[in-house]
Amino acid sequence: MPAHLIPSRRGLSSDDPIFALHGEAQARKAAGDSVVDATVGALLDDSGQLVVLEAVMDLWRELTALEVAPYAPIAGDPAYLRGLVQRHWPNLATAGSACATPGGSGALAVSLRTFLEPGQALLTAAPFWGPYGTLAAEAGMRLVTVPWPEAGHPLDLAAWRREAEGLLAAQGRLLVWLNDPCHNPTGRSLSALDRAGLAALLTELAARGPLTLLLDLAYQDYTREPAEVAAALADYAALGAAGTVLVGASLSLSKALTLYGARSGALAFPWSRDGALQAALSTACRGLWSNCPKAPQSLLVRLMRDGKAQAHLAAEHRHWSEVLDARALALDAALRAEGLEGAPWQGGFFVTLGVSDPFGVCERMKAEGVFSVPMAWGLRVGLCGLRVADAPRFAQALGKARVR
Ligand SMILES: Cc1ncc(COP(=O)(O)O)c(C=O)c1O
Repeated sequence: MPAHLIPSRRGLSSDDPIFALHGEAQARKAAGDSVVDATVGALLDDSGQLVVLEAVMDLWRELTALEVAPYAPIAGDPAYLRGLVQRHWPNLATAGSACATPGGSGALAVSLRTFLEPGQALLTAAPFWGPYGTLAAEAGMRLVTVPWPEAGHPLDLAAWRREAEGLLAAQGRLLVWLNDPCHNPTGRSLSALDRAGLAALLTELAARGPLTLLLDLAYQDYTREPAEVAAALADYAALGAAGTVLVGASLSLSKALTLYGARSGALAFPWSRDGALQAALSTACRGLWSNCPKAPQSLLVRLMRDGKAQAHLAAEHRHWSEVLDARALALDAALRAEGLEGAPWQGGFFVTLGVSDPFGVCERMKAEGVFSVPMAWGLRVGLCGLRVADAPRFAQALGKARVR
């Protein structure tokens, strides 16, 4: 243990459990084993190659030196911020108070230091994307959770009320992260009724202290239900426009444009014109990374000016949404054929299968050459990497491995 490390930085694990499992699956494959690897968090085609959207790469190749090399403005290129917000809410004329961030991860990190003090807690729904815990811990904060609804069940508004009231009483303020629509890792979205109930509750509770709702939007381009996604975004826009709850969004090019490695996103409050909020965001950028990469910002600006490229991109999103849909249906059918519960999916890259002893089940499935990610709440299955043809083998391995 080097004495150089301050005590609070000791004893951390550098192993990301998902990357470790994926590495194990790859090693088994390289050694000649037949492996089904549903650990991956990026979209793969049926031959296992990373999907890179052509419409995006066509634009990337057109970028000129001056669209790549200079510093971007500290808070991000205003045309980029406007364009990214308009991809989600086409009727908005500006991005509001906003800054560019390295992916959605950067936006989540900035939201913590902007709306909570160290030692405080944010509220989110469980299951959640694993790094939420790390992001909170790195900011000296905690996560308090409420349950994401089970398939076919309504949101537990009583739990939301209890936890939100508790945090407001303790902290005098509340920050909520909501990964909806197309939730990771369940693959399901809130219903219109759930959204209405949550909006009414948050609006009521905002009388007790500043209340910020941050939508974590990562997967909404990959869905069985594009009209439902648009309706959800419209509902959140109405809540934002009402102005009682501060509504913002963590936006990202990672999945939307398959530009995971470009590290481009934004933290945007499209219904705010608050100069103090804008100053807080710009200052956080300067103090954390100064400027975000210029090239992906230039690319998005080009995309928003190019109707043909937008149509090409929309067609690619439709295609890959259909691929994910077919994979979800195949997994659902295969699980049911084994006498297991199905895997309802509405959007995103994952589904979560409820099993008891997920870590033990995962180990036993590995013995069959089938890899998924165990979480406290069940197994995360990456539809983004699971071919239709592998669904029966996955379901058989689960049927054999689960605790009866
Ligand atoms: C739910 C969710 N939010 C945010 C992110 C952040 O991704 P990035 O930082 O690459 O934009 C991810 C990535 O997997 C995610 O799944």
